[in-house]
Amino acid sequence: MRWLYASIALVAPAWAGLRFQCSTLTYQRLDPVVQPGSNPSAHVHHIVGGNAFNASMTGDVSARATCTTCQMSEDFSNYWTAVLYFKHPTNGSYHRVSTIPVVPGTSGTQGGLTVYYTQFDLSRDNIKQQPVKSFQPGFRMTVGSPSVTSRPHVGLRYQCLQSNGNRGAEMPDLPTKPCPGGIFVTHHFPACWDGKNLDSPDHQSHMYNTISSDGFPNAPACPSSHPVRMPQVTYETVWDTAKFNSMWTSGAPNPFVWSFEGTGGGTHADYMFGWKGDALQRAMNKSECFYDGCGSITKQAMNTANQCTVKDMVGEETVGWFKSLPGMGSSS
Ligand SMILES: *[C@@H]1O[C@H](CO)[C@@H](O)[C@H](O)[C@H]1NC(C)=O
Ligand SMILES: *[C@@H]1O[C@H](CO)[C@@H](O)[C@H](O)[C@H]1NC(C)=O
Ligand SMILES: *[C@@H]1O[C@H](CO)[C@@H](O)[C@H](O)[C@H]1NC(C)=O
Repeated sequence: MRWLYASIALVAPAWAGLRFQCSTLTYQRLDPVVQPGSNPSAHVHHIVGGNAFNASMTGDVSARATCTTCQMSEDFSNYWTAVLYFKHPTNGSYHRVSTIPVVPGTSGTQGGLTVYYTQFDLSRDNIKQQPVKSFQPGFRMTVGSPSVTSRPHVGLRYQCLQSNGNRGAEMPDLPTKPCPGGIFVTHHFPACWDGKNLDSPDHQSHMYNTISSDGFPNAPACPSSHPVRMPQVTYETVWDTAKFNSMWTSGAPNPFVWSFEGTGGGTHADYMFGWKGDALQRAMNKSECFYDGCGSITKQAMNTANQCTVKDMVGEETVGWFKSLPGMGSSS
């Protein structure tokens, strides 16, 4: 609901949280968090952020990156999710779906996704009661899992965009009817850290989620096992599914599948921290940051961000019609 942004901007006395656009960096079959060093990885991802993105990433990412597709020019993090494909209802071929900006036409963003780092909820901060600590170099995490076949847990949601921009209700699975404005996918990461580990074997156990409802509510206190409150990271991605709607035969089931050949329940996302120096901590220490930065947090024009690229490291076509999903079958 776009009017919501306008009314927040008018009322806002003090906001706590960053919200910014990142253009698409690349679509490749790489996953430096879950399958470091594997080229190719199991399934195709849509990746935004810094140009240090690689099959394997260790240490301080911000020291190696020289540009970023994100609006915040000190943010060399990488953010990625699986890719949505259209599976033709009658001939069974797959076609990759592209992403479009969440707030179209306002900033020159190309494809991409929107990133949030919130400190409390969407309208208030809580910094005095509970300081928010930045992630450290080397930090990484995932949320959700491609092996989940039931509905995903809270915070991993789908919305069916109408042509007037209305998002409708948050749903735990892919829409069952065509969405005129595309499919809106949200990934909320957990915000409580164990204070010790930059990663864990399952890439999730070092973090803990205390939010039990949809949206951007204030999270209950962190448990003693994971006592450190971190920024609550969220991705919002709009998949441009509308151009496939004419091939969605009336009454046929949902034809969209994730790149791991999976249903809606397997939705997941990966985060690789890469902010320069103390930039994220400076942002999180402020109460007045919201939507597109503040004070000392530097921004770049999206047409500058759009010039940041990485080379194709996998050498695999991801656009066009495929008999099977890249990595998922014997032929392509
Ligand atoms: C990616 O990793 C390879 C192999 O370690 C290395 O040669 C290359 O320079 C890296 N690229 C970037 C952009 O870090
Ligand atoms: C399936 O249909 C699409 C759209 O008409 C077409 O481009 C594609 O080549 C077809 N695939 C096969 C295997 O016939
Ligand atoms: C952020 O706030 C904490 C707690 O007040 C303080 O110790 C720290 O130095 C601040 N960091 C930055 C980069 O402003």
